[in-house]
Parts: sequence; C-alpha cells; structure tokens
Amino acid sequence: MISKDKTQECFVYIVLPGQTEFVTAGRFRLDTDRHGITTGRFVYGKSYLARAEAVPIDPIELKLATAIYETRLLKGIFGALRDASPDYWGRRVIEKHAGKPQLNEIDYLLYSPDDRAGALGFGTRPEPPTPRRKFNRTIDLQKLQEFADKIIADEELPQDSDAQQAQELMLEGTSMGGARPKAVVEDDGALRIAKFNRPDDKWNHARVERAMLELACACGIHTAENRLTTIGDRDALLVKRFDRENTDKGYRRARMLSALTLLRAEDTHTDRSKWSYVPLAEELRRISARPKEDAPELFKRMCFNALISNNDDHPRNHAVIALENEWSLSPAYDLIPNPQISIERRDLALACGDMGRYAHADNLRSQSARFLVSTDDARAIVDSMEQTVRDRWYGIARREGISEKDCETIRGAFVYGGFRLELARPEHGP
Ligand SMILES: Nc1ncnc2c1ncn2[C@@H]1O[C@H](COP(=O)(O)OP(=O)(O)OP(=O)(O)O)[C@@H](O)[C@H]1O
Ligand SMILES: [Mg+2]
Repeated sequence: MISKDKTQECFVYIVLPGQTEFVTAGRFRLDTDRHGITTGRFVYGKSYLARAEAVPIDPIELKLATAIYETRLLKGIFGALRDASPDYWGRRVIEKHAGKPQLNEIDYLLYSPDDRAGALGFGTRPEPPTPRRKFNRTIDLQKLQEFADKIIADEELPQDSDAQQAQELMLEGTSMGGARPKAVVEDDGALRIAKFNRPDDKWNHARVERAMLELACACGIHTAENRLTTIGDRDALLVKRFDRENTDKGYRRARMLSALTLLRAEDTHTDRSKWSYVPLAEELRRISARPKEDAPELFKRMCFNALISNNDDHPRNHAVIALENEWSLSPAYDLIPNPQISIERRDLALACGDMGRYAHADNLRSQSARFLVSTDDARAIVDSMEQTVRDRWYGIARREGISEKDCETIRGAFVYGGFRLELARPEHGP
C-alpha cells in the first residue's frame, strides 16, 4: 500500500544483460531541507559493484563507482530514475486507485507496476521481491479500455468485483510513460503497449499512428513493430516493446534512457533552451556503439517530424536502449501528425538547426555535419523524404483504414506550405 508518511528512500533493482531476474543495484534517497530544497542521492551497493557483469544504470551520470552521487536538478530525481517513473497517464491511474492526488516521487516509483520502461525496478527491501509474472492478456483489452474511459471522464470507479478486477488489470500496465491512455498486454509471446483511442479524439488516433509508422518505414526509418486491433467498435494500436525480449526463462530487459536525460534537461517549458536535436545528436554519438548509423537516423527522424508536422516530438519521444552492454538509438515511436493552422511557419518541439525550432528544409540541413551527414547527403535525404511523404501519405492512410473524413482532417499536416518557403537573405551577406 502507499505509505501515509512520505517514503523518502528506496532500493533500485536492475535486470542485468542476459538475465531475467532483478538484482539489487543500489539505494536512492530524497532529502528535503528546511528551505524546501530537495537533494537526490544514489549509491551503488558494494555487492553490485563487485559483480563482474555489473552495468551502470546511466553510463554518463551514474558511472559504476563507490561515489555518493548527488543531484538537485529535477527535484532530486536522476534522469535514469525519472525515465522509469510513470508519466501523466500512469500517475492518473495510480492517484485514482490510491484515492488521493498528491503522492511523493518515491511513492510513484514504488507503487507503479514492474512493467515500466527499461531494466530498473524499485522496492523498500534490500533484496528484490519475487517477480509476479502476471501480465494482462490481449483478451482483457475490452475491460482495460472501459476502465481507461472512466479515468478520462474522471468518473468514480465502481467498487464491485468486476471493477476491482479491471483496476488490477490497469495497474498491471500503467507505468509506461506518455499522456495518452495505454496499458501493457502480453500477446503472442511478446509484450505490447496497447494505445487506446479517446472518446474525445478528433480523428482515429490508433489508425493514424499506425499509418505514420508505416510512412516513416517507407522513408527508411527504423520503427517499432506494431499492429492494429479492434475492440468492439473501437481501434487500438499494439506496439511491440523494444525494451523486452522474451526467452524461455522470462523477459530480458533493455536499459532505456530518454533524450530528456541525454540532454540533462527538465520536462518544463523553462528548460526548453536545452531541447535541441543538435546537442542530442552529439550526446547520441557519445553514448551509442554505432554513431555512424544512429546519428544519421536521428537526422532522418527530425526531417520526418517536420514533414508530417509532428510538433509533439518532445525529448521523451526519443530514447536509447541497451539490451546488452552497448547502447544504441531505439526504434522510432509515437509519430503523430498535427494539422496546425499556420501555413507559413511551424516549429518542432526541439531546435533543429541555425533557425531554432523552425520546421524548414534549410534549417533542417543547416547542422547536418553534427549528425554525420554531408551537405550533399542532407540535400538528397530531405528531397527524397519530402517526395515520399507527399506521394505516399494518402495511399498508406487509406490502406490502413483511415476514413476519407479523417484524411481530410489531417491532410494539412503533410509537407506544409512553409517547408520550402523562400527565406529573405541578408542584402549584404557574405
Ligand atoms: N515500443 C516501445 N517499447 C518500449 N517502450 C516504449 C515503446 N513505445 C513507447 N515506449 C515508452 O513509453 C512511453 C509512452 O509511449 P508513447 O510516447 O507512445 O505514449 P504517448 O502517451 O502517446 O506519449 P505522449 O505523452 O508523448 O503523447 C514513451 O515515452 C517511451 O518511454
Ligand atoms: Mg510519447
């Protein structure tokens, strides 16, 4: 149960590469002083450091060492831990279940189920608990969707046994990040994120997201494996988790860090100056075992987001993963077109070149060298992706069952007018 007093300390567990069970990695503690300043402290356990196969939970901020790591950023929560904690949707479900809105950060870590993104787990005991090995099945989707609708509508959750069961089901699958309703389900021997449509959506999100992943594939981008499913008369998208791998002993887990953590940035508007693809490309080159593939791949994803007006490309929508010791860019996920009103200028969530966040072909190409892409290649990539998006978005959308009406609603998102807008040049330029 959630503690009444603030729990301020927890153990951090990890599933090591090649294994399927948690071991204890270290201890995390939050202290708030009388001025209200919170400091987070993390130490690796001695027995963890003594393991030959130990890996750092963040190879940059929390290297394997006997140090006491301290941070006051992010309210004391290290980026690697924040990436494992529930986001807007998971927090809503947990609060609803707990019946109170204000929980402390460690409560969220402790109370969220063990299907969180990445390889970490949390608990109050020095030894990790026995794994529960219980996952929702795809056959539970109907109940999960009904429950999600109730949470969205902020309705009281009924207390009968069916509803109790639905709550249990939902709590089995809430700790993935993100804002949209979702649950984790097991199907066909793999774990998948079920992303539900909301009753107030302006178009069929599940089908549109599926079509965008297909369009990204057509542009040469490596995307998360996914498929559609229909529950009653509503669609949901099932995205295969790339941070889990099924083996006959159970699930292996990949460590996962978001771009927010790589940029050492906060999730707030005040910290937006740090949100940029350009330093992200450099951090990626530093952490990735295959920088020559990953940096140009990030370049393509940035261009794709500009071409489909995906301005929700915030830094939690990019990640690096490590199933073994080495890190690499994760497959692309959460690609959503946004048919905005402005025709002349649209901005991405992250800066993408010399002109800031401007989703313009020249801007996208302006720093291509930092993505290990030559000027000529950058031109060729942008031109060919533009052509593919322009020529193929509609056909793919219709093939994926998106209605004519929804296609009309989202049409304005693709290769918007300002993408190639003639830019005024300084009169006496060099
Ligand atoms: N295929 C996947 N495998 C593993 N983790 C994933 C996968 N897809 C998404 N995630 C993780 O789950 C989080 C939520 O997923 P996603 O971004 O698709 O949800 P969302 O609710 O649409 O997000 P947003 O709040 O950006 O709209 C991501 O930030 C990422 O950490
Ligand atoms: Mg997202």
